[in-house]
Amino acid sequence: MVAINNVTTLEVQDGIAVLTIDSPPVNALSGPVRQGLYDGIHKALADAEAKAIVLICGGRTFIAGADISEFGKPGGTPTVGLNETFEAIENATKPVVAAIHGTALGGGLEVALTCHYRVAVPSARAGLPEVKLGLLPGAGGTQRLPRLVGAEKALALMTSGDQISAAEAVKSGVFDAVVEGDLKTGAIAFAKSVVGKPSPRVRDRDEKVAADRGNAELFAAFRKKNARAFRGQKAPELIIQCIEAAVNLPFDEGIAVERTLFGKLIVSPESAAMRHIFFAERQAAKIPDVPDQTPVLPVKKVGVIGAGTMGGGISMNFLNAGIPVAIVEMKQEALDRGIGVMRKNYENTAKKGRITEADVEKRMGLLTGSLELESLNDCDLIIEAVFENMAIKKDVFARLDKVAKPGAILASNTSYLDVNEIASATARPESVIGLHFFSPANVMRLLEIVRGDKTSKEVIATSMKLAKTIGKVGVLVGVCPGFVGNRMLSQRQQQANALVNEGAMPWDVDRVLYDFGFPMGPFAMSDLAGLDIGWSKEASSSSTIREVLCEMDRRGQKTGAGFYDYDENRNARPSPVTEKIIREFAAKSGVNPREITDQEILERTIYPMINEGAKILEEKKAIRASDIDMVWVTGYGWPIYRGGPMHYADHVGLKTVVERLKAYQAQMGDFFKVSPLLEKLAAEGGKLSSVSN
Ligand code: 3HC
Ligand code: NAI
Repeated sequence: MVAINNVTTLEVQDGIAVLTIDSPPVNALSGPVRQGLYDGIHKALADAEAKAIVLICGGRTFIAGADISEFGKPGGTPTVGLNETFEAIENATKPVVAAIHGTALGGGLEVALTCHYRVAVPSARAGLPEVKLGLLPGAGGTQRLPRLVGAEKALALMTSGDQISAAEAVKSGVFDAVVEGDLKTGAIAFAKSVVGKPSPRVRDRDEKVAADRGNAELFAAFRKKNARAFRGQKAPELIIQCIEAAVNLPFDEGIAVERTLFGKLIVSPESAAMRHIFFAERQAAKIPDVPDQTPVLPVKKVGVIGAGTMGGGISMNFLNAGIPVAIVEMKQEALDRGIGVMRKNYENTAKKGRITEADVEKRMGLLTGSLELESLNDCDLIIEAVFENMAIKKDVFARLDKVAKPGAILASNTSYLDVNEIASATARPESVIGLHFFSPANVMRLLEIVRGDKTSKEVIATSMKLAKTIGKVGVLVGVCPGFVGNRMLSQRQQQANALVNEGAMPWDVDRVLYDFGFPMGPFAMSDLAGLDIGWSKEASSSSTIREVLCEMDRRGQKTGAGFYDYDENRNARPSPVTEKIIREFAAKSGVNPREITDQEILERTIYPMINEGAKILEEKKAIRASDIDMVWVTGYGWPIYRGGPMHYADHVGLKTVVERLKAYQAQMGDFFKVSPLLEKLAAEGGKLSSVSN
């Protein structure tokens, strides 16, 4: 075996050259990997003993893409050096076989597509996820993949960034074969079987793209169907244009189109924001005073208290991961209803073909229900999801303390309450933590992990690991009312209400935030959740617009009316009734309604959130600005292509944010008072992203 460079080796085995890339953690196509590939191919071609070449990777995966950390840095575009490397592989006079394990993603799959054959272990996966980084496959993927799978499938794969399994890859023509057993041995055997045969180049294949040539309708229909899903993003449209080029133009011209359009995306703020989120997600897992080696506690069984909206969704996460759940309710009726909802959710998923009927039974089979708290005495983790009331929660924790086994983690799903006070109801505050799931709890990716003053490092480490096990992004936050997410949300909500009181209509506020990229605005959201959450007929005193709406039985989508009117398909339209109520409120309180610009709506809803985020950092309730961004992107539908509120603030410029907040403060008072940290950073020309606690 010879070392080509420090990440590449070459050996000849049985007449086959085996070129191995080993560049942890994920064999990304960094400069040394590209150089190793280029030099290795040439060396293998020069070796008379080698009749074919196997390209394989060490470690956990085949090449997982271009090196994202190189993007946006000086030193040229990420494709520098790739072209020569790809030409060397594709034009090799000996067959080159890519041997794939782990995930062949982005530039990694693109390398494999320049090889003459692709074989993979059954567990391997492939995909072109560039769209998730606001990019398009810029190393030939947009031109080669359609030549293997046709335009329609290529459009779906590249605009979603979804991965496919090895079996699906073989079926659709991306891979040539699945290798059982040892990959290297299988790939060498495959390579021997193609020695002396012509080396097929993907670029020369025409039959799949010829079928769609001139079919403009195919692309028009795809654009129309996905317009809503793609809104605000540049990459999907440019990917479509590249695939059109693949279908209609000769290969080299298509490559030129791909290169031009990739060049536009790599410098776009959308891609910068999405790459920021990629690294933010990985950063969030790092907690300075809880190192990786911190012992984690085994979680083999989970208890959940309360089978309401949240308790049911929380339980499903663990059942999906194969972890048994014991759920406790106060009354049999509530228990039956909660378990019934979970079964129905699973059955609906099965109807859509996403899981099998057997999966439904397997998951429900892991669930037990009880009315006795004692039934949780063998659980390693117990999550309380009862009513949002401190007295009730403390009572539950005091009783839990008596029945839970020593060392069990006692968690609360509280949205706002003080986790330290809840912990004080037990004799083991070190075992108490907040695990704040977001509704619907089986869907939303965020898990805010709330660290109490006495929470132990083991409990934190275990909670962070558990988040990953159940497919969530765990973000560690400190105790304060509403933690990070709801604390900032409350700022937005207060201004949304104030804007309506001053003359804006709910649909104006919603439209501005929708156009910004949120899935819906705050008033549409309230209608969806139900205006009567926390409302009671007896206590209602017509003192807010919401109360009046509830009193009129306009309690949101479920009653066919709320802020909006709804048709039978739940399509919303602005409501003259709501408008009249708003006007009457204004008249009563002596407000002269005024025209409010979209710009003012945006600034007054978003900038106070940024200001609150800065206060959160100042108070060290979040470790870093990018953690706050993760909370908003994964828990509240903040558009990923705007990178979260802190990244957005840095992008707009802190000076501008501070100036506007001060202008509003002068007009409307101290709600807009600028946080000292924000003010300092703005004065210094600094960025929130530089703050790290
Ligand atoms: N470039 C640079 N670093 C990368 C990377 C990449 N493409 N992919 C992963 N990493 C880093 C991560 O930041 C992380 O670093 P850290 O340990 O310092 O935090 C480390 O590798 C391990 O990553 P994960 O924690 O994500 O490990 P997993 O095992 O959970 O996942 C993975 C592995 C599935 C490969 C996942 O990392 C992933 O999806 N990576 C991104 C893949 C991707 O988007 N590829 C396309 C890149 S763009 C491109 O190729 C453009 C081309 O068309 C020109
Ligand atoms: P819910 O009202 O739907 O469910 C609460 C359930 O707890 C009810 O079924 C009730 O019977 C049961 N319960 C009450 N006291 C109990 C006790 N002592 N023992 C056993 N069961 C008991 O409420 P929801 O919405 O599920 O909220 C639960 C918690 O989750 C609250 O703390 C809430 O703030 C929090 N939360 C709610 C979110 C939401 O969107 N609904 C989002 C995130 C957190």
